[in-house]
Amino acid sequence: MSQQTPDAPAGSVLPPVGSGKRVRVHHLAAAKAAGERLTMLTAYDAPTARLFDEAGIDLLLVGDSIGDNMLAHENTLPVTLEEMLPPARAVARSAKRAMVVVDLPFGSYEGGAQQAYSAAVRVMKETGAHAVKFEGGARVAEQVRVITDAGIPVVGHLGFTPQSENILGGKRVQGRGDDAAERLCEDAVALQEAGVAAVVLEMVPAPVAARVTEILTVPTIGIGAGPSCDGQVLVWLDMAGMGDWSPRFAKQFGQVGAALRQAAQAYAAEVRTGAFPAPEQSYQQ
Ligand code: KIV
Repeated sequence: MSQQTPDAPAGSVLPPVGSGKRVRVHHLAAAKAAGERLTMLTAYDAPTARLFDEAGIDLLLVGDSIGDNMLAHENTLPVTLEEMLPPARAVARSAKRAMVVVDLPFGSYEGGAQQAYSAAVRVMKETGAHAVKFEGGARVAEQVRVITDAGIPVVGHLGFTPQSENILGGKRVQGRGDDAAERLCEDAVALQEAGVAAVVLEMVPAPVAARVTEILTVPTIGIGAGPSCDGQVLVWLDMAGMGDWSPRFAKQFGQVGAALRQAAQAYAAEVRTGAFPAPEQSYQQ
């Protein structure tokens, strides 16, 4: 049975959970205008997508963070477009209300507008998702323009961009200092002018994220970017306490990893003693 939560504030501009209506691009702009914060979580499969959708999460991101969080890679770089499609399909099939955003992985869009357009069209045609996201500022503005001109909403991603971790010198806060902050603002404006529907800001000093949020008319969605963003996103495993480690900017809102480990141990113990399966879990002749 689905569990509903006190999802949206009274008078929300976003569709209520269970209304049969989906969060769409115009709702993002309306939420920013109304000062209503957007919620986003990653999802990589059907069960989590269904749970988060029922919980009233507004946007589900099929992130290329599937690489380090689900596929046991060290980072997001090895993830291919081919690998993004099945999880994106599962999430899109499972989310009834949330807008589903799919990351274009490293190597699928940086080569130019035509490459990016082909990747975005594959995502839209083959998954049923509602938008794509990719990393970079002015350097990918042409890609944003071509894809949005084709009718595909794009979410931008600035600040720490994991696909560029080798050139950025590792997982580091971006936009520190006046020059870097200025460049970040310019990149954000370039993305907005190219047509993005929202911009993710990752690991950016809170005052810089606040400035970008003020400058832009499209919403900012922060991850390690302080409280002034128009919304927040987290990798669900960090949010739910699934792993042994989570970044400083994340908060654990549950201990799902411990609960799952405990369930597996209880199951194993009952199998070993013969307590499971009991008569009620067995078929009689
Ligand atoms: O892939 C991902 O999970 C992301 C978030 C960190 C925003 O891009």
